[in-house]
Amino acid sequence: MIEKLDKIKRNFHAETKKVSTINDIEQLKIKYLGRKGIINDLMKIIPTLPSEQRSLFGQQINLLKTDVTNIIEEAHKRFHSESSSKVKKELFDITLPGKHPFIGKKHPLTQTIDDIKDVFARLGFDVAYGPEVELEYYNFEALNIPTDHPSRTDFDTFYIKNDVLLRSQTSTVQIREMEKKKPPIRIIAPGRVYRPDTVDARHSFMFHQVEGLLVDEGVSFADLKGVLNQFIKTYFGQDVQMRFRPSFFPFTEPSAEVDISCSICGRKGCSVCSYSGWVEILGAGMVDPNVFKAVHYDVEKYSGFAFGMGVERITMLKYCIDDIRLFYENDIRFLSQF
Ligand code: PHE
Repeated sequence: MIEKLDKIKRNFHAETKKVSTINDIEQLKIKYLGRKGIINDLMKIIPTLPSEQRSLFGQQINLLKTDVTNIIEEAHKRFHSESSSKVKKELFDITLPGKHPFIGKKHPLTQTIDDIKDVFARLGFDVAYGPEVELEYYNFEALNIPTDHPSRTDFDTFYIKNDVLLRSQTSTVQIREMEKKKPPIRIIAPGRVYRPDTVDARHSFMFHQVEGLLVDEGVSFADLKGVLNQFIKTYFGQDVQMRFRPSFFPFTEPSAEVDISCSICGRKGCSVCSYSGWVEILGAGMVDPNVFKAVHYDVEKYSGFAFGMGVERITMLKYCIDDIRLFYENDIRFLSQF
């Protein structure tokens, strides 16, 4: 028995010489001191021995156990102090400048759409979406735009084939939502729209709009003014003024265009506001009864308002950007400022 212990001791010492990583030390510890390790196995033999041998054998095992424990602990300590001084010497130069990871940001137009969604969410508006490739019916007919209206020509609309086109306004989503649901309706619809305009500092063949639609019993023009006033003050600031000018859209009656006081010159007059002190930001009005008829709403019972704003325009005014093309060039020097 004692011989067996000696052999284990010799083996252990031989094995400690081969240790080269912290993992090797851990493995050795498990092999000898673990619950199913060599030393525990030896302990299990004790009760099977003749009683006179038990105490001597027990003492020997305990000695072995203390030895093994000490040596493993020593190895642990040595390993830690060696590796930490190595790290200090070789890897860590605290004078090196830190790394600055590049943090991505949302595109300014996405940020504006998110801000608009936030303001209207607080007023109880849901967000709705519609397709960009659209039927002529939703872009024109259902919106009470007559067959001979100039906006229907291919000067103003991208046609894909006969009655299929790229939507030229988000007002299409008004119809799609009203077809799906009965009033009360309270939605905003952000998205891309397309018009064959020549690209310059103020025009692009693709841009973004946010449409708004509210339909219920007893909705009035005063409600439209209240909602838009709330939006403009929250988005542009309390000092910004708003004015309504009478206008015309086939799908609203009465219709208005809404201007805000020029945030760039503070109404003193500049090139952005053509020296008028005001800039137009959206079209709006009370939903025309013909539109309600197209979606089979009871025109006697329901009334509503709609509005549509240009996202690029609003972003340009808020951040004093003078060229719409900057939004589409993906120049990181421009985008990283927002
Ligand atoms: N669709 C109109 C445009 O593109 C804007 C608008 C929307 C006007 C809703 C009135 C009501 O110019």
